[in-house]
Formats: sequence, structure tokens, C-alpha cells
Amino acid sequence: SGEPSWARERTLVTVKPDGVRRRLVGEVIRRFERRGFRLVGMKMLQAPESVLAQHYERHREEPFYAALLGHMRSGPVVAMVWEGPSVVRASRAMVGLTDGAEAAPGTIRGDFSLHIRRNVVHASDSVEGARREIQLWFRSSELVDWADEGHRGSL
Ligand code: TYD
Repeated sequence: SGEPSWARERTLVTVKPDGVRRRLVGEVIRRFERRGFRLVGMKMLQAPESVLAQHYERHREEPFYAALLGHMRSGPVVAMVWEGPSVVRASRAMVGLTDGAEAAPGTIRGDFSLHIRRNVVHASDSVEGARREIQLWFRSSELVDWADEGHRGSL
């Protein structure tokens, strides 16, 4: 499309098993759509252990690692790729602090969680991390390149 590359930054957002169980998938999607970000990939899956192990590699030695993986395998997740200007930073702001009990009201975690592990969503924490996580969770054929020609005026 004709959009500059800075407008096409991408990030990985997942609704975790607690979010799916609590019927918060639509709520999460609604917030990203309202903000104006573009959904370019989405699927529901039981996350494979190998994907989770790579996704959370940097936490492997943490005391919470086993419980974290156990939680992420406790049910299906919804994985999404969102695109737009500064989407990585914006998504982190929309998601809020890791611990739901500390997260600010108005954020997804601050509105829907009081727990550090059952915190509803994941969002990549850097552009480089997002690139890695998107490749881990999606084949390139699962991502859709589209531009909202004809909708620009209403966004
Ligand atoms: P982290 O990358 O620090 O947070 P975030 O999800 O906000 O980027 O941690 C990854 C996940 O690990 C976090 O979402 C929930 C889990 N976790 C715990 O269960 N206990 C903890 O003490 C921490 C720091 C994280």
C-alpha cells in the first residue's frame, strides 16, 4: 500500500486462556479497533508447548515459569497481529502493568484483572520482540496485507 513503513508497525497481542474463559476476546478486539489499529492476523489455538517455551524463553529461570506455562496451556488462546503507528508502545499502554492489581484503571488489565498471572492479555514489549513473536506464532501466509482505502476519511 501507499502507507509509510512507520505506519505499518506490527505487534503480537494474545488473549490468554483466562481472558478467553471470561469472554473477554471481543472486549480486547473492540479496544484495538476503536483506537484505529488494523487487524492483520487472528487465530484461536491451543498453544503448543514449543511455541510457549520460545515465547517465554527469557523467563525460563524465573520461579513463576512453570505456573506461567501451565496457565498458558490451560485452555485456548486467541493470537492477533495488529498494525499501525507506534502500535507496540500504544498496545503496552492499553494493556497496562503486568500485575492486574497494580495496573491503572482504563487499561485492559486495570479494568479486568487483579492477578499477576491471570492478566488477560499479552502484548509484545518492543518492535524487535514483536517481529520475533509474530514469526513464532504466525506463518506469513496467515497475515493479510490490507489498507483501508475509502475508510481513511472516517478514521
Ligand atoms: P513479563 O514479560 O514481565 O510481563 P508482561 O506480560 O507485562 O510483558 O512477564 C510475562 C508473564 O509472566 C506475565 O504476563 C505474567 C507472568 N508473570 C508471573 O506469573 N509472575 C511474575 O512475577 C511476573 C513478573 C510475570
